[in-house]
Amino acid sequence: MKVTVFGIGYVGLVQAAVLAEVGHDVLCIDVDANKVENLKKGIIPIFEPGLTPLVMQNYEAGRLKFSTNAEEGVNHGVMQFIAVGTPPDEDGSADLKYVTAVARTIAQFMNDHKVVIDKSTVPVGTADRVRAVMTETLKTRGLDISFDVVSNPEFLKEGAAVSDCMRPERIVVGTDNEEVVELLRELYEPFNRNHDRMILMDIRSAELTKYAANCMLATKISFMNEISNLAERLGADIEKVRMGIGSDPRIGYHFIYPGCGYGGSCFPKDVQALIRTAESIGYTPRLLKAVEDVNDSQKTKLPAFIKRHFGDDLQGKTFALWGLSFKPNTDDMREASSRVLMETLWQAGASVQAFDPEAMDEAQRIYGHRTDLKLMGTKEAALQGADGLVICTEWKNFRAPDFDVIKNALKEPVIFDGRNLYDPERVSKRGFVYYAIGRGA
Ligand code: UGA
Repeated sequence: MKVTVFGIGYVGLVQAAVLAEVGHDVLCIDVDANKVENLKKGIIPIFEPGLTPLVMQNYEAGRLKFSTNAEEGVNHGVMQFIAVGTPPDEDGSADLKYVTAVARTIAQFMNDHKVVIDKSTVPVGTADRVRAVMTETLKTRGLDISFDVVSNPEFLKEGAAVSDCMRPERIVVGTDNEEVVELLRELYEPFNRNHDRMILMDIRSAELTKYAANCMLATKISFMNEISNLAERLGADIEKVRMGIGSDPRIGYHFIYPGCGYGGSCFPKDVQALIRTAESIGYTPRLLKAVEDVNDSQKTKLPAFIKRHFGDDLQGKTFALWGLSFKPNTDDMREASSRVLMETLWQAGASVQAFDPEAMDEAQRIYGHRTDLKLMGTKEAALQGADGLVICTEWKNFRAPDFDVIKNALKEPVIFDGRNLYDPERVSKRGFVYYAIGRGA
């Protein structure tokens, strides 16, 4: 099938590459000429396991194309995906200007029936807005061409985006038109073979499903972080509690890892956007507000531990930091806990020596101007002469370090672990003071 994808961001690029991989003819359109030229040369704008070869193979096979020419994009496919960003605007609501701009473009150039598919995370009611913008634009052209608007939210995780997209747990389709369902069945047939993963519903429910999913996961995390704060004060170990409750299948082991707060481009933004949506219709979302509140304060936990240990004035101190990205297997630092940590340490007069397996370029881009941040080539180099070690991201190669190397490199054997990577007893036996989340520090 011929498919057009507007927006070569995370969701758009992964979705496009995966659709091309199963044989569809996919044309990606983006306003960023530089990005498009780079993609043609095999330069992928994001780090995502498995994505580069997938894009390159399909580009070389001619199934995946890139262009800035919107008209060409509109003429290419019956299926027109909107996968552009929905960044938070000033009050935290999702800003739909890119989504509506694409809708206008499609209506400006279309000459026959189109199925417009919202892939971006968009507030409830966006499909109606897309429809209104398109109808309006078609009217100014004096045309009355039919089109459908479908909500088909994406549930991929950064770091596992390709496999999530190749083997989706569910394909949520919100539409009011039975015929469109058949088209989408055909499009997704390769991913839907063994059992039917398509969940059909009305458009508004599909739009809300996306927010509900992310907010539920964020709620699980904030709940665990709240319990970890209790565990810490009650002399209990949150890791034992986690295993104790996870064994109940109604609770499950997923997404109950306490830590130094959730980050990324989705949870913080989506929780906030749903809060704004609720408030805009006169409903006070008490639980969602608490989820956000707990997360904001959880991000200040590591700096608070550090101040508890060293005092409020950190002038002249240097901290080794392992992990800059908001989670492992990505170079994404959006809303990462490491940023709150570093900014608080800098404010208190300390400097940071940081290492991350993938996010060094990103850190350079954001904080390259800072003289109180040194980006180090290895995790061992980051330790040299530092007053303590802080861990913000649970990258695999931080899990079994040589503790003697750490001890010898640090001025003082103290670890502030925001991801509970080590056994507190064992680390203490090796002579460290060990601060972790919800483990009685
Ligand atoms: C999230 C969702 O998991 C995806 O299903 C969704 O499609 C995506 O948002 C999106 O809307 O695009 P992502 O932001 O890539 O995916 O990352 P997650 O793996 O969900 O992690 C988010 C944050 O939660 C990370 O900072 C992670 O460290 C934290 N987390 C996760 C915890 O603190 N504890 C946990 O138990 C799990």
